[in-house]
Amino acid sequence: MIDLYVEVRSFAHELDELIRAFFPSKKVNILDDIEDPPMGDLKIEVVYRNKQDTTYISSKLIAREQVIDKANEDIDLSCIKSNKLLTMRYIKNGSKRCVYNMMSRFAGIELDWGILTGIRPTKIVNEMLDANMNRRLIIETLSNEYLLSPSKVQLLMETTAQQRSILSKNHNKIISLYINIPFCTTKCLYCSFPSDTIERCHDKLDKYIESLIYELKSVMDIILKKDYIIQTVYIGGGTPTSLYVDQLERLFMELDSILPHYIEEYTVEGGRPDSLDLEKLHLLRKYGVTRISINPQTMNADTLKRIGRSHTPDDIINCFESARSLGFDSINMDVIIGLPGETLEHVDKTMTNIYNLSPDNLTVHTLAIKKGSLLKEHIDKYEFADNNTAEEMLDKCKLWSKNMGMIPYYLYRQKYMLGNLENIGYSKPGKECIYNIQMMEERQTIWAFGAGGISKVFYEEENRLERVPNVKSHVEYMERIDEMIERKMKLIEK
Ligand SMILES: C[S@@+](CC[C@H](N)C(=O)[O-])C[C@H]1O[C@@H](n2cnc3c(N)ncnc32)[C@H](O)[C@@H]1O
Ligand code: SF4
Repeated sequence: MIDLYVEVRSFAHELDELIRAFFPSKKVNILDDIEDPPMGDLKIEVVYRNKQDTTYISSKLIAREQVIDKANEDIDLSCIKSNKLLTMRYIKNGSKRCVYNMMSRFAGIELDWGILTGIRPTKIVNEMLDANMNRRLIIETLSNEYLLSPSKVQLLMETTAQQRSILSKNHNKIISLYINIPFCTTKCLYCSFPSDTIERCHDKLDKYIESLIYELKSVMDIILKKDYIIQTVYIGGGTPTSLYVDQLERLFMELDSILPHYIEEYTVEGGRPDSLDLEKLHLLRKYGVTRISINPQTMNADTLKRIGRSHTPDDIINCFESARSLGFDSINMDVIIGLPGETLEHVDKTMTNIYNLSPDNLTVHTLAIKKGSLLKEHIDKYEFADNNTAEEMLDKCKLWSKNMGMIPYYLYRQKYMLGNLENIGYSKPGKECIYNIQMMEERQTIWAFGAGGISKVFYEEENRLERVPNVKSHVEYMERIDEMIERKMKLIEK
């Protein structure tokens, strides 16, 4: 356990995350008072002193009552003192640098993501681009203020460059929709999404679709009367295509009558080939779906079995080829690096197969060992790549995607990822998924329907988001459907 005392309590959460990026297996105990008795073997103290326009940050690393390291920063606030938000950001980043430097010396390692702990690092760069900062200054800020490694700076610059033309067209009358189908054919070992298996829920599926259509009709009626333009629709989950074909058809038919006819991008996460046969692929084409996912995760049969996916690598190839033959020209594939038992050779095999298929998007996830997953529960049974190998795996995918003519276009980070790495979405030029960019950058209103959907309303003038969550459990969602609609209506009317 590591004890942390920080005089500005609101910084504690981010400092806690930063400390755990160095020591993922340690717990951080946040002390309310500097004199509180410590519980661990290491203690970090961060205190502040203000004089005129400067804040002096002093931090100490203490082991067995001995100060073993110190780090200080003087933050000159004279140019920004009228801006309270910016002032707090400067002091918070200074505090994080102090803690970073002490932890880095103590652990003998540097973190590629520097002091950044959030899940959306591209947002920071987009904000700087909005403020018309030049490229050189942005690179300097990422390196010196956020302590990012040159490779992460380059990744952020490259990724955000792909997003600008899409984000620049945003305005407050253009919105997106997310529709959640929280069912799957089987539960994967690593998954913590609140999805249930079709088998267990087969008697509830019709009612779920009915509730979903009711929610969509009630809310969209008002939204469309207010002249909003729907840029993208994303049907995700779970695995939407795990619904039976007649249920899927009912949903698409209703959507066809509810939604306007021009939608720039219409994605369905087919996800697993064991849920997506030719009949369903025809259905998606018939109802104008423009983008689908067929996700291998890995192209190694043994790993697929180990992670509880009831399909083979050949199923993926066949499903992909069927989709192409029906004219789908925007297909994404998800892979995960660092799956239990996998080595660099496994990643090469996966990527060789994907290279041969040549999808339009490739999303490379780093395994996250999430609370609530079977993997976390039985962690001792499995072997994983070490941090350096996980990084090499990610680099390999980067090279393969480059060979496929792809460029990174969105990225995000999650808790508990191997090697403190990231997830990267690659795309062939012009095939970027608009929804993924909008969802990650949080600059567009996205109305979310179905159990677990979280709507986010974006107020451009105030650069602010308001969240409206639906309940997570599909049973509760059906029971409380009127309340879900009411929650949205309140915000739409406002
Ligand atoms: C919401 S899931 C749905 C996709 C679809 N149901 C499927 O499994 O093919 C989206 C993606 O997140 C990734 N994912 C899920 N859990 C993960 C974990 N614990 N670590 C890394 N990636 C994960 C997988 O690549 C998955 O395809
Ligand atoms: S990874 Fe996808 S298919 Fe597997 S359980 Fe999670 S949502 Fe379902």
